[in-house]
Amino acid sequence: MSNLNEQTVLSVHHWTDTLFSFTCTRDASFRFENGQFTMVGLQVDGKPLLRAYSLASANYEENLEFLSIKVPDGPLTSRLQHLKEGDKVFIGKKPVGTLVVDNLLPGKNLWLLSTGTGLAPFMSIIKDPDVYDRYERVILTHTCRFVDELAYKEFITEHLPAHEHLGDLIREKLVYYPTVTRENFQTRGRITDLIQTGKVFEDLGLSSFSLENDRMMLCGSPHMLKDTRELLTSLGFAEGSNSEPGHYVVEKAFVG
Ligand code: A2P
Repeated sequence: MSNLNEQTVLSVHHWTDTLFSFTCTRDASFRFENGQFTMVGLQVDGKPLLRAYSLASANYEENLEFLSIKVPDGPLTSRLQHLKEGDKVFIGKKPVGTLVVDNLLPGKNLWLLSTGTGLAPFMSIIKDPDVYDRYERVILTHTCRFVDELAYKEFITEHLPAHEHLGDLIREKLVYYPTVTRENFQTRGRITDLIQTGKVFEDLGLSSFSLENDRMMLCGSPHMLKDTRELLTSLGFAEGSNSEPGHYVVEKAFVG
């Protein structure tokens, strides 16, 4: 299994009965760019069973972190959700992905638009000092059905601003905009609707999207990606890739 490393689970956190995250050891040779994903899996019936997972840890951190939904009959996540400290997991040696800052043209505001576990790659990106060097403002939006699905909310609002090295940059540049669609919350609704009605710009005191200033990374459900892509395309924004930078980049949130 030359394309996989076996690593040890260090901690598991259950956010809800359908959402959990875990940390594991990191191979000394494992390198990645913030925003990328890699294969993660378990040994099942003598074979590795793998799915793509975004790295939620930053590339300078000692351990790796992943965020996952629990699908009751999902071949991998029905098993992965029972991980305990000390268990072994496979981690793919070759991280890849399009949600990297080099795939975007220069701009002033970086919008990280996520739904559900699509938050994961942005947890890596908001801990990247290089991202704050490139942008005046980094706006992270996370849309979930219910408030308790807003994983890492306290980490983003309380822990990160007090971070020893990043705290100053985070307090100055990071804007967190959580939204909830199926129960009461300070901000209700899909991010696509909040963009179209202008509410997100009003709430944050920002101008609506402009080709000159705004860059986006999208990570969420296929529907959210489709609608957001259409919206951005209609405004004249061009999608970037690993071969050519653009105004925005897209990755599907992975399910197992
Ligand atoms: P909604 O509750 O209105 O469907 P899911 O759990 O289905 O992946 O959805 C996660 C979040 O993404 C939910 O809050 C959901 O809102 C929202 N969402 C679903 N489809 C879209 C879409 N096409 N555009 C924007 N947000 C969406």
